[in-house]
Amino acid sequence: MADTDAVKQAKSFYEDIPMETHGFFLKGASSLDWGMKNRLSRIFSPDTGRTVMLAIDHGYFQGPTTGLERIDLNIVPLMPYADAVMLTRGILRTTVPPWLTKPIVMRCSGGPSILKELSDEHLAVDIEDAIRMNVAAITLQVFIGGKFESRSVRNMTRLVDMGMRYGIPTMAVTAVGKDMVRDAKYFRLACRMCAELGANFVKTYYVEEGFETVTASCPVPIVMAGGKKIPELDALTMAYKAIQAGASGVDMGRNIFQSDAPKAMMQAVRKVVHENLKPKEALELYKTLKAKEPKNR
Ligand code: R5P
Repeated sequence: MADTDAVKQAKSFYEDIPMETHGFFLKGASSLDWGMKNRLSRIFSPDTGRTVMLAIDHGYFQGPTTGLERIDLNIVPLMPYADAVMLTRGILRTTVPPWLTKPIVMRCSGGPSILKELSDEHLAVDIEDAIRMNVAAITLQVFIGGKFESRSVRNMTRLVDMGMRYGIPTMAVTAVGKDMVRDAKYFRLACRMCAELGANFVKTYYVEEGFETVTASCPVPIVMAGGKKIPELDALTMAYKAIQAGASGVDMGRNIFQSDAPKAMMQAVRKVVHENLKPKEALELYKTLKAKEPKNR
Protein backbone atom coordinates (compact mmCIF):
# COMPACT_ATOMS: atom_id res chain seq x y z
CA MET A 1 0.00 0.00 0.00
CA ALA A 2 2.76 2.38 1.03
CA ASP A 3 4.45 1.86 -2.36
CA THR A 4 1.29 2.70 -4.33
CA ASP A 5 0.87 5.94 -2.37
CA ALA A 6 4.43 6.91 -3.16
CA VAL A 7 3.80 6.41 -6.91
CA LYS A 8 0.62 8.52 -6.78
CA GLN A 9 2.46 11.30 -4.97
CA ALA A 10 5.33 11.29 -7.42
CA LYS A 11 2.83 11.77 -10.26
CA SER A 12 0.85 14.60 -8.70
CA PHE A 13 3.83 16.70 -7.64
CA TYR A 14 5.19 17.15 -11.21
CA GLU A 15 8.65 17.94 -9.86
CA ASP A 16 9.99 18.32 -13.41
CA ILE A 17 7.56 21.17 -14.30
CA PRO A 18 8.43 24.51 -12.69
CA MET A 19 5.44 26.48 -11.47
CA GLU A 20 4.56 29.26 -13.86
CA THR A 21 5.13 32.78 -12.55
CA HIS A 22 2.32 34.85 -13.94
CA GLY A 23 3.07 38.33 -15.08
CA PHE A 24 0.13 40.70 -15.40
CA PHE A 25 -1.32 42.13 -18.57
CA LEU A 26 -2.14 45.64 -17.33
CA LYS A 27 0.26 48.54 -17.26
CA GLY A 28 1.47 49.48 -13.78
CA ALA A 29 -0.45 46.72 -12.02
CA SER A 30 2.10 43.93 -11.59
CA SER A 31 2.95 44.83 -7.99
CA LEU A 32 -0.69 44.88 -6.87
CA ASP A 33 -2.26 42.18 -4.73
CA TRP A 34 -4.41 39.33 -6.02
CA GLY A 35 -7.76 40.96 -5.24
CA MET A 36 -6.82 44.13 -7.10
CA LYS A 37 -5.62 42.17 -10.11
CA ASN A 38 -8.71 40.00 -10.08
CA ARG A 39 -11.02 43.04 -10.01
CA LEU A 40 -9.02 44.78 -12.75
CA SER A 41 -9.28 41.60 -14.83
CA ARG A 42 -13.06 41.80 -14.57
CA ILE A 43 -13.02 45.34 -15.99
CA PHE A 44 -10.23 44.99 -18.57
CA SER A 45 -10.37 41.93 -20.81
CA PRO A 46 -7.32 39.73 -20.19
CA ASP A 47 -7.49 38.80 -23.90
CA THR A 48 -7.16 42.34 -25.29
CA GLY A 49 -6.09 44.34 -22.23
CA ARG A 50 -8.94 46.75 -23.03
CA THR A 51 -12.39 47.68 -21.78
CA VAL A 52 -15.63 49.22 -22.97
CA MET A 53 -17.26 50.87 -19.98
CA LEU A 54 -20.75 52.35 -20.01
CA ALA A 55 -20.92 55.61 -17.99
CA ILE A 56 -24.35 56.41 -16.56
CA ASP A 57 -23.39 58.34 -13.41
CA HIS A 58 -24.39 61.79 -14.76
CA GLY A 59 -27.34 62.15 -12.38
CA TYR A 60 -25.01 62.61 -9.39
CA PHE A 61 -24.57 66.27 -10.32
CA GLN A 62 -27.00 66.98 -13.17
CA GLY A 63 -30.16 65.03 -12.36
CA PRO A 64 -32.09 63.09 -15.01
CA THR A 65 -29.86 63.67 -18.03
CA THR A 66 -31.38 63.11 -21.50
CA GLY A 67 -31.38 59.37 -22.08
CA LEU A 68 -31.10 58.54 -18.38
CA GLU A 69 -34.64 59.52 -17.36
CA ARG A 70 -35.64 55.86 -16.91
CA ILE A 71 -32.54 53.79 -16.34
CA ASP A 72 -34.68 50.72 -15.66
CA LEU A 73 -36.27 50.87 -19.11
CA ASN A 74 -33.52 52.28 -21.33
CA ILE A 75 -30.20 51.48 -19.72
CA VAL A 76 -30.46 48.17 -17.87
CA PRO A 77 -31.06 46.32 -21.19
CA LEU A 78 -27.82 47.87 -22.49
CA MET A 79 -25.66 46.71 -19.63
CA PRO A 80 -24.98 43.18 -20.91
CA TYR A 81 -23.16 44.74 -23.88
CA ALA A 82 -20.65 46.60 -21.68
CA ASP A 83 -17.50 45.25 -20.04
CA ALA A 84 -18.22 47.36 -16.94
CA VAL A 85 -20.76 49.95 -15.80
CA MET A 86 -19.89 53.24 -14.10
CA LEU A 87 -22.72 54.43 -11.87
CA THR A 88 -23.77 55.72 -8.44
CA ARG A 89 -24.73 53.57 -5.49
CA GLY A 90 -28.22 55.05 -5.59
CA ILE A 91 -28.88 53.74 -9.09
CA LEU A 92 -27.16 50.44 -8.35
CA ARG A 93 -29.27 49.76 -5.29
CA THR A 94 -32.60 51.01 -6.62
CA THR A 95 -32.53 50.10 -10.28
CA VAL A 96 -29.93 47.51 -11.29
CA PRO A 97 -31.04 43.91 -10.76
CA PRO A 98 -28.56 42.07 -8.50
CA TRP A 99 -28.45 39.13 -10.90
CA LEU A 100 -26.67 41.37 -13.39
CA THR A 101 -23.08 40.43 -12.68
CA LYS A 102 -21.28 43.06 -14.76
CA PRO A 103 -18.37 44.67 -12.90
CA ILE A 104 -19.41 47.93 -11.29
CA VAL A 105 -17.22 51.02 -11.15
CA MET A 106 -18.87 53.05 -8.41
CA ARG A 107 -18.91 56.84 -8.32
CA CYS A 108 -17.72 57.83 -4.84
CA SER A 109 -17.54 61.63 -5.03
CA GLY A 110 -20.28 64.23 -5.04
CA GLY A 111 -21.67 67.37 -3.49
CA PRO A 112 -22.21 70.30 -5.86
CA SER A 113 -24.89 70.33 -8.56
CA ILE A 114 -24.56 71.93 -11.99
CA LEU A 115 -25.87 75.09 -10.34
CA LYS A 116 -22.68 75.49 -8.28
CA GLU A 117 -18.88 75.19 -8.44
CA LEU A 118 -18.37 71.61 -9.60
CA SER A 119 -14.91 71.16 -8.13
CA ASP A 120 -16.34 71.56 -4.61
CA GLU A 121 -16.69 67.79 -4.21
CA HIS A 122 -16.32 65.51 -1.20
CA LEU A 123 -16.09 61.77 -0.83
CA ALA A 124 -19.68 60.56 -0.87
CA VAL A 125 -19.47 56.81 -0.25
CA ASP A 126 -18.02 54.82 2.62
CA ILE A 127 -15.71 52.03 1.48
CA GLU A 128 -17.81 49.58 3.51
CA ASP A 129 -20.81 50.29 1.31
CA ALA A 130 -18.74 49.79 -1.82
CA ILE A 131 -17.58 46.42 -0.47
CA ARG A 132 -21.15 45.54 0.53
CA MET A 133 -22.21 46.13 -3.07
CA ASN A 134 -19.41 44.00 -4.45
CA VAL A 135 -17.94 46.65 -6.71
CA ALA A 136 -14.99 46.04 -9.02
CA ALA A 137 -13.61 49.59 -8.71
CA ILE A 138 -14.29 52.94 -7.08
CA THR A 139 -14.04 56.29 -8.83
CA LEU A 140 -14.13 60.07 -8.40
CA GLN A 141 -13.40 63.34 -10.18
CA VAL A 142 -10.04 65.06 -9.76
CA PHE A 143 -10.09 68.77 -10.63
CA ILE A 144 -6.49 69.65 -11.49
CA GLY A 145 -6.34 73.43 -11.90
CA GLY A 146 -9.87 73.79 -10.51
CA LYS A 147 -10.95 75.97 -7.61
CA PHE A 148 -10.93 73.05 -5.15
CA GLU A 149 -8.01 71.22 -6.78
CA SER A 150 -6.25 70.33 -3.56
CA ARG A 151 -9.38 68.96 -1.87
CA SER A 152 -10.23 66.81 -4.88
CA VAL A 153 -6.69 65.41 -4.89
CA ARG A 154 -7.03 64.69 -1.18
CA ASN A 155 -10.38 62.98 -1.86
CA MET A 156 -8.55 60.78 -4.35
CA THR A 157 -5.67 59.84 -2.08
CA ARG A 158 -8.14 58.93 0.68
CA LEU A 159 -10.16 56.81 -1.72
CA VAL A 160 -6.99 55.13 -3.00
CA ASP A 161 -5.94 54.36 0.60
CA MET A 162 -9.34 52.85 1.39
CA GLY A 163 -9.30 50.87 -1.85
CA MET A 164 -5.79 49.57 -1.19
CA ARG A 165 -6.91 48.38 2.23
CA TYR A 166 -9.56 46.11 0.70
CA GLY A 167 -8.15 45.32 -2.75
CA ILE A 168 -10.45 47.62 -4.71
CA PRO A 169 -8.86 49.64 -7.54
CA THR A 170 -9.50 53.38 -7.92
CA MET A 171 -10.22 55.09 -11.22
CA ALA A 172 -9.50 58.84 -11.22
CA VAL A 173 -11.50 60.99 -13.65
CA THR A 174 -9.71 64.13 -14.81
CA ALA A 175 -12.41 66.81 -14.77
CA VAL A 176 -11.73 69.92 -16.82
CA GLY A 177 -13.17 73.27 -15.77
CA LYS A 178 -15.22 75.20 -18.38
CA ASP A 179 -12.57 77.85 -18.97
CA MET A 180 -9.55 75.57 -18.97
CA VAL A 181 -7.52 74.62 -22.04
CA ARG A 182 -8.02 71.00 -23.02
CA ASP A 183 -4.69 70.05 -24.56
CA ALA A 184 -2.12 67.28 -24.23
CA LYS A 185 0.01 69.38 -21.89
CA TYR A 186 -2.90 69.70 -19.43
CA PHE A 187 -3.88 66.03 -19.65
CA ARG A 188 -0.26 64.88 -19.23
CA LEU A 189 -0.17 66.88 -16.01
CA ALA A 190 -3.56 65.72 -14.72
CA CYS A 191 -3.18 62.01 -15.61
CA ARG A 192 0.37 61.79 -14.32
CA MET A 193 -0.58 63.44 -11.02
CA CYS A 194 -3.46 60.98 -10.55
CA ALA A 195 -1.19 57.99 -11.22
CA GLU A 196 1.66 59.26 -9.06
CA LEU A 197 -0.74 59.80 -6.18
CA GLY A 198 -2.06 56.24 -6.44
CA ALA A 199 -4.90 55.93 -8.97
CA ASN A 200 -4.91 52.47 -10.56
CA PHE A 201 -6.38 53.72 -13.85
CA VAL A 202 -7.39 57.11 -15.18
CA LYS A 203 -10.33 58.30 -17.26
CA THR A 204 -9.46 61.29 -19.40
CA TYR A 205 -10.51 63.14 -22.54
CA TYR A 206 -9.09 62.55 -26.00
CA VAL A 207 -7.18 65.35 -27.72
CA GLU A 208 -6.23 65.33 -31.40
CA GLU A 209 -2.70 66.61 -30.86
CA GLY A 210 -0.34 64.52 -28.76
CA PHE A 211 -2.73 62.08 -27.04
CA GLU A 212 0.00 59.43 -27.36
CA THR A 213 2.18 61.54 -25.04
CA VAL A 214 -0.63 61.50 -22.46
CA THR A 215 -0.85 57.68 -22.52
CA ALA A 216 2.95 57.21 -22.72
CA SER A 217 3.70 59.42 -19.72
CA CYS A 218 1.00 57.87 -17.52
CA PRO A 219 2.22 54.69 -15.77
CA VAL A 220 -1.29 53.23 -15.41
CA PRO A 221 -3.96 52.44 -18.04
CA ILE A 222 -5.90 55.33 -19.55
CA VAL A 223 -9.56 55.00 -20.46
CA MET A 224 -10.96 57.57 -22.88
CA ALA A 225 -13.91 59.67 -21.69
CA GLY A 226 -16.78 60.14 -24.14
CA GLY A 227 -18.00 63.70 -23.71
CA LYS A 228 -21.05 65.35 -25.24
CA LYS A 229 -22.99 63.64 -28.01
CA ILE A 230 -21.39 63.88 -31.45
CA PRO A 231 -22.29 62.06 -34.70
CA GLU A 232 -21.70 58.29 -34.52
CA LEU A 233 -18.85 58.32 -37.06
CA ASP A 234 -17.04 61.04 -35.09
CA ALA A 235 -17.45 59.13 -31.82
CA LEU A 236 -16.19 55.90 -33.40
CA THR A 237 -13.26 57.79 -34.93
CA MET A 238 -12.38 59.37 -31.60
CA ALA A 239 -12.46 55.96 -29.89
CA TYR A 240 -10.35 54.44 -32.67
CA LYS A 241 -7.72 57.18 -32.51
CA ALA A 242 -7.54 57.03 -28.72
CA ILE A 243 -7.03 53.26 -28.77
CA GLN A 244 -4.39 53.50 -31.50
CA ALA A 245 -2.66 56.18 -29.42
CA GLY A 246 -2.37 53.86 -26.43
CA ALA A 247 -5.67 54.09 -24.51
CA SER A 248 -6.69 50.86 -22.78
CA GLY A 249 -10.37 51.37 -23.48
CA VAL A 250 -13.23 53.81 -23.33
CA ASP A 251 -15.80 54.88 -20.76
CA MET A 252 -18.62 56.41 -22.81
CA GLY A 253 -22.01 57.64 -21.76
CA ARG A 254 -23.93 60.12 -23.92
CA ASN A 255 -22.38 58.89 -27.16
CA ILE A 256 -23.90 55.51 -26.38
CA PHE A 257 -27.20 56.17 -24.63
CA GLN A 258 -28.12 59.29 -26.63
CA SER A 259 -27.49 57.45 -29.90
CA ASP A 260 -30.55 56.47 -31.96
CA ALA A 261 -29.53 52.85 -31.50
CA PRO A 262 -27.60 52.44 -28.24
CA LYS A 263 -27.11 48.67 -28.46
CA ALA A 264 -25.82 48.96 -32.01
CA MET A 265 -23.48 51.78 -31.01
CA MET A 266 -22.15 49.81 -28.07
CA GLN A 267 -21.41 46.83 -30.29
CA ALA A 268 -19.67 49.01 -32.86
CA VAL A 269 -17.53 50.62 -30.15
CA ARG A 270 -16.65 47.15 -28.85
CA LYS A 271 -15.30 46.17 -32.28
CA VAL A 272 -13.20 49.34 -32.42
CA VAL A 273 -11.79 48.81 -28.94
CA HIS A 274 -11.28 45.07 -28.82
CA GLU A 275 -10.66 44.29 -32.51
CA ASN A 276 -9.18 47.55 -33.88
CA LEU A 277 -12.01 47.85 -36.41
CA LYS A 278 -11.61 51.01 -38.51
CA PRO A 279 -14.19 53.79 -37.89
CA LYS A 280 -15.94 53.58 -41.29
CA GLU A 281 -16.32 49.82 -41.01
CA ALA A 282 -17.58 50.25 -37.46
CA LEU A 283 -20.14 52.77 -38.73
CA GLU A 284 -21.34 50.23 -41.31
CA LEU A 285 -21.71 47.68 -38.53
CA TYR A 286 -23.63 50.26 -36.48
CA LYS A 287 -26.02 50.90 -39.37
CA THR A 288 -26.60 47.20 -39.97
CA LEU A 289 -27.28 46.52 -36.31
CA LYS A 290 -29.40 49.66 -36.02
CA ALA A 291 -31.68 48.41 -38.78
CA LYS A 292 -32.37 45.32 -36.65
CA GLU A 293 -32.69 47.15 -33.32
CA PRO A 294 -36.21 48.04 -32.19
CA LYS A 295 -36.65 51.81 -31.74
CA ASN A 296 -35.56 53.13 -28.36
CA ARG A 297 -38.57 54.10 -26.21
C1 R5P B 1 -18.13 63.15 -15.97
O1 R5P B 1 -17.57 63.99 -15.45
C2 R5P B 1 -18.71 61.98 -15.31
O2 R5P B 1 -17.83 61.01 -15.01
C3 R5P B 1 -19.91 61.53 -15.99
O3 R5P B 1 -21.08 61.92 -15.55
C4 R5P B 1 -19.82 60.64 -17.15
O4 R5P B 1 -18.99 59.60 -16.90
C5 R5P B 1 -19.58 61.32 -18.46
O5 R5P B 1 -19.76 60.46 -19.53
P1 R5P B 1 -19.96 61.01 -21.01
O6 R5P B 1 -19.21 62.31 -21.07
O7 R5P B 1 -19.37 60.00 -21.91
O8 R5P B 1 -21.42 61.21 -21.24
